[in-house]
Amino acid sequence: MMIGTSIARWTMSYFAVALAWLLVALALMVAGIGFPAAHLASPDTLVLVHVVCIGWLSVAMCGALFQFVPVLVAKPLFSEKWALPALVLLTSGLAALLAGFLGLGGRLPALHWLLPVGAILLIVGFGLIVIDLGLTAWQRPAGPARFVLAGLASLCVAVTFGAIFALAHAGWAGSIGASMLASGVPLHAIAGLGGWLTLTAMGVSYRLLSMFMLAPDVDDQKSSMTLAAGALAIALVVVGGIVAIWLSFGLNVVLSVVAILGLVTIALYGRDVIAIFKSRKRRQLELNTRMAVLSYVSLAASALLGVMLILTGAFTAQLGAFVFLAGFGWLSGLVLAKLYKIVAFLTWLETYGPVMGRTATPRVQDLVSEARASKWFVIYHAAVWFGTLMLLAGQPSAFRAAAAVMTIGIAGIVREIIRTRSLADVESPLRLPNGACAPHLLFARN
Ligand code: HEM
Repeated sequence: MMIGTSIARWTMSYFAVALAWLLVALALMVAGIGFPAAHLASPDTLVLVHVVCIGWLSVAMCGALFQFVPVLVAKPLFSEKWALPALVLLTSGLAALLAGFLGLGGRLPALHWLLPVGAILLIVGFGLIVIDLGLTAWQRPAGPARFVLAGLASLCVAVTFGAIFALAHAGWAGSIGASMLASGVPLHAIAGLGGWLTLTAMGVSYRLLSMFMLAPDVDDQKSSMTLAAGALAIALVVVGGIVAIWLSFGLNVVLSVVAILGLVTIALYGRDVIAIFKSRKRRQLELNTRMAVLSYVSLAASALLGVMLILTGAFTAQLGAFVFLAGFGWLSGLVLAKLYKIVAFLTWLETYGPVMGRTATPRVQDLVSEARASKWFVIYHAAVWFGTLMLLAGQPSAFRAAAAVMTIGIAGIVREIIRTRSLADVESPLRLPNGACAPHLLFARN
């Protein structure tokens, strides 16, 4: 399991930066900046989308992967030294990208080189991470590690498209770049949200669910089928999409086939997750697993909503509500649930691992107060579902109220995570036994 593995030094820093960006995104939504107040393709919405997709979800995922890829393949990380420079590059690249978007919308002076500069910084930052994690996972490409490899490949695709768009906005990408920008945005979005974030979250969740529920690992043959369906969907979207744009066909046929493959992937993943739940030895579910179930409800609801919107011809009009539910209910919900547990687990390992066996130490569960934390998660999820309904009903003011309630939930969760990291809930004699060192809030002292 995880005992005996080294602790990634910068994972906590990634989590802290990610949560800060999440709070920025919520502040934008509460203030009514971006969708639904502005159009989906408006510069304000692009700011909001990239704060969520890069700042929050991608940074949190990378932080988790620095810890988990070595665990998945039982090999050390290729280079621990790259993690911090990569975080600095991602943060500054995102800031430049956002400034470029704000320039497009006239909120800042329009400096056309800002988007390409942001893209270059992001390419180098993500590039370091992809090489570091990719070389590590490649040493034993089996089980969940293959999902991570497929996710990293999709990240490369999403970033490449993003860079082409950034160059095209600056007028530096010629006619091919301009036609990619005109028609290729769905390919970029699906590679990022579907390939990178969803496939990686699925892979990591298999291992985390079985680890925290004491269940055997998911059947390799079954999870291979899930991955095959998901990877095929992404490969098709990229190759078919580029060919369709090249031949000026329009993307409808490609996107319909990909939608079906996407549904198959979700159904197969659901089957795998149910099998893990059924074979678990820990009957009483911990908070992180119960809250992960809420994110699965959102995943199933997103799939259902997508099908209903396509059947009623309302998909394009309601794309925002669909992406909101998938992004905040499913992806963010799962990341938050797992982050809550990972912080407790790593803090426990870092603080008590060195003195274990020599003196009495608390259990991982003594670092958290699930009874207090659960209400913040419930508030957050209820607000996401209410927000989705308000988007569907075309009620932007009520949506802002939902975003305000989501912010309350997230502030509560952040407070719980900080308490866990500072051992605030551990009773005094056990808190810091002789030889144990209190952890630093933002990085591991290894
Ligand atoms: C180097 C990194 C990236 C750059 C330079 C970039 C750039 C862009 C640009 C310029 C657009 C707007 C295209 C237009 O004007 O219509 C866009 C749209 C979008 N990007 Fe990115 N992107 C990057 C990474 C990502 C990642 C990693 C994700 C997801 C995980 C993502 C998700 C999206 C989505 C969902 C849209 C559509 C937004 C909308 O139309 O409202 N991007 N991106």
